[in-house]
Amino acid sequence: MRRRTTPESTPSPRPWNAALDGLGFGGDYNPEQWPQDVRLEDLELMREAGVNVLSVAIFSWATIEPREGELDWGWLDETLDRLHGAGIRVALATATASPPPWLTRKHPEILPRLADGTVLHQGGRQSYAVTHPVHRDYALRMTTRIAERYRDHPALAVWHVDNEIGCHVPRDHSDAAAAAFRDWLRERYSTVDALNEAWGTAFWSQRYGSFDDVLPPLTAPTFANPTQQLDFHRFSSDALLDYYRDLRDTLREITPDVPVTTNLMATAHCRGMDYFAWGPELDVVANDHYTMSADPERHVDLAFSADLTRGVAGGAPWILMEHSTSAVNWQPRNTPKAPGEMLRNSLQHVARGADAVMFFQWRQSRAGAEKYHSAMVPHAGRDSDLWRDVVTLGRALRALGEVRGSRVRSRAALVMDWPSWWGSELDSHPSQDLRYMDQVQAWYRALWRLGVTTDLVPPGADLDGYDLVVLPTTYVVTDADAANVAAAAERGATVVVTYFSGIVDESDHVRLGGYPGAFRDLLGVRTEEFHPLQDGESVRVVGKAVGGQASADLWTERTRAADGTEVVASYEDGALAGRPAITRREVGSGRAWYVATRLDDAGLGALAELLVAEAGVGPEVAAPTGVEVVRRWSDDGATSWLFALNHTDADATVGAPDSPVAGVELLTGDAVEGSLVVPAGGARVVRAAG
Ligand code: GAL
Repeated sequence: MRRRTTPESTPSPRPWNAALDGLGFGGDYNPEQWPQDVRLEDLELMREAGVNVLSVAIFSWATIEPREGELDWGWLDETLDRLHGAGIRVALATATASPPPWLTRKHPEILPRLADGTVLHQGGRQSYAVTHPVHRDYALRMTTRIAERYRDHPALAVWHVDNEIGCHVPRDHSDAAAAAFRDWLRERYSTVDALNEAWGTAFWSQRYGSFDDVLPPLTAPTFANPTQQLDFHRFSSDALLDYYRDLRDTLREITPDVPVTTNLMATAHCRGMDYFAWGPELDVVANDHYTMSADPERHVDLAFSADLTRGVAGGAPWILMEHSTSAVNWQPRNTPKAPGEMLRNSLQHVARGADAVMFFQWRQSRAGAEKYHSAMVPHAGRDSDLWRDVVTLGRALRALGEVRGSRVRSRAALVMDWPSWWGSELDSHPSQDLRYMDQVQAWYRALWRLGVTTDLVPPGADLDGYDLVVLPTTYVVTDADAANVAAAAERGATVVVTYFSGIVDESDHVRLGGYPGAFRDLLGVRTEEFHPLQDGESVRVVGKAVGGQASADLWTERTRAADGTEVVASYEDGALAGRPAITRREVGSGRAWYVATRLDDAGLGALAELLVAEAGVGPEVAAPTGVEVVRRWSDDGATSWLFALNHTDADATVGAPDSPVAGVELLTGDAVEGSLVVPAGGARVVRAAG
């Protein structure tokens, strides 16, 4: 894989929103789906809503180049000129998100493959092998053409590389991928002996004599080598990132001052790409998030995605590149959003660091696979509640323009780690029921319910500013990361580690001498055997730390606490009755807790409350259950904007005598003194001094 940009040669482009007054507002714009009269009406409607940024040409390759070498730029020239005339800025895509039919017919070898050899054909979208040199050449050619044509266009604000790279094909098993995997392994291990050592190939006669014998983990008679699987995850994320970088570098060569991004899918549902490695490669991080209509706590899932995006952006403001105005079309049952939900969703993203709110898509398609997906302009047209809500949202975002550039501050960190996600869920493990994200989300939810603003960070992050650090199922741990976590406790933080953490090193080799190897000394515990529970089985956990008594399932461990380690909760029944379930140890100026089982919601809630109090990271402002309060701060800390989002169907009051809210409410212009009323399902934003 090519690496062309070195850190020294990295240009510093202008900010993506240099030409905007406040926050960005808009969506994906696909005028190629519509006749001229509709395109003209679009401009009128965009003005009415206050749209100021649009993503253009994402899926336009086949429109721009319907036959190889035959280029039709007319419609795109006209679109950009018109948008510029209307004062709208453009996130211009490389048009590479889906290869045109002529390309896959001419070069069927660029089609991706599943592990069982199934070819993913043209006819949907994203049917390309991200590592195939032929596809890469064509994609770079299209990128170059677009960049050269529009390099000086005054509407151009930011380049939008491809689209949701890896969305449908996070891992490709084609011959091109196999060759690229071997190159990646050569770079990682240098010698085949080192690969054999890392992969533990003395087991099951898997020893390789040459890199040429290595394949991706294809469908096999039984479990594929676990380190091969883990490395293939790493490789696949890197291969997709390499594709992004290659297109980005081409754009940078032509327009060094134009920032480059791509829309990530940093959510609890996107396992394929290690976005902590991607973030630094984007000039501004952009993310897509869709709520799951069947999830009654979808606003918590949204908060998680927004916080993860901020973590990937290293705390900097980011672009919400896509979400939906109402229903989507790809869930089993697609319920529309409730009245007020779109506005609340949008402001929730802003509260957690977004400087732009964009949608898929501007106008709801009348043909194609996404015609039942909501948009800013619905099938019903302008005379619709949805359109009126879009106009209201535009107005709200204009009123909030001053928050742009401000940042969220947090003293609680939840460690999120893609290698642990991949590694902990491999086959041939103690329990097939363990789901990494389920633990991460359970802890996130518990902290969210307590009103704690949480940063999502990788295990190697600078943990200095955090008083609470939680590591849920952090399975793959390097020595350096283990030392980083231990240092946080020494320095005074409350560190919490949960079951099946610290088990293996980066090669997926077990750390010997008792689990959880990497954290055994820090936590002062030693587990001799895992004791996963059968489906439907649960045990009782007793102790003040879980509110007296709680239920636990999925996982237990035969754990012993070392001298000096306090057992704060134990199992009351089951095979491990009397054994420690939760322990606590004083470490330097801080503390290290181990939670060896999966607690039910109430137990985890009680424990989280205790930890939040111990670490002193509780919310600054009192709010009733279901009302979310988050603050953004100006750089100098002189001003803050307090966002209050009422996810309940009753009016709520935020702020109490000991945590008053005072300032100006920006959506209504009202002065606020002491407490703030947030209408049922509504949102309020108060500018406060400090
Ligand atoms: C995203 C994608 C958009 C659109 C949207 C529908 O994954 O980037 O093009 O398909 O989903 O929800």
